Amino acid sequence: TEETYIMVKPDGVHRCLVGEIISRFEKKGFLLKGLKLFQCPKDLAQEHYKDLKEKSFYPSLIDYITSGPVVCMAWEGAGVVASARKLIGATNPLQAEPGTIRGDLAVQTGRNVVHGSDSPENGKREIALWFKEGELCQWVPAQAPWLIE
Ligand code: GTP
Ligand code: MG
Repeated sequence: TEETYIMVKPDGVHRCLVGEIISRFEKKGFLLKGLKLFQCPKDLAQEHYKDLKEKSFYPSLIDYITSGPVVCMAWEGAGVVASARKLIGATNPLQAEPGTIRGDLAVQTGRNVVHGSDSPENGKREIALWFKEGELCQWVPAQAPWLIE
């Protein structure tokens, strides 16, 4: 089963966008497997963004992600990784389409309110990184037969 790691970044939490952002994925019909408010330690932020280590914005990215609580989520569903990226919109919110989370709710790349895994492999890697085993739930929502035939 495909899974993606979605995270409301500290700007989204400070701006009271947590409910709005969770709601977009809930309404779409993906399955919520894990959810928590969490103060990210520096070493975890560095591990999460290790591929961007050489970028000029990397130190400010680590400061940003560790500056306040984030909301960590694990979502499951067929095609969830690519679909979640579409719901989130382009990295630069000014280029993100209206109707997407970043297109509707943000104005700058360095404050783009939400993260989404970029591949199914990274979805699994990031969920394992941000969640402990007992923090994830296996469950079947009551609406399941009305979402998938
Ligand atoms: P994520 O879902 O958060 O991984 O975003 P993304 O996949 O759309 O972009 P990418 O993985 O390339 O970059 C990760 C994050 O680094 C972005 O979401 C931004 O928060 C930040 N970032 C990327 N490029 C820039 C930049 O040019 N300037 C600044 N300040 N931040 C950047
Ligand atoms: Mg990325």
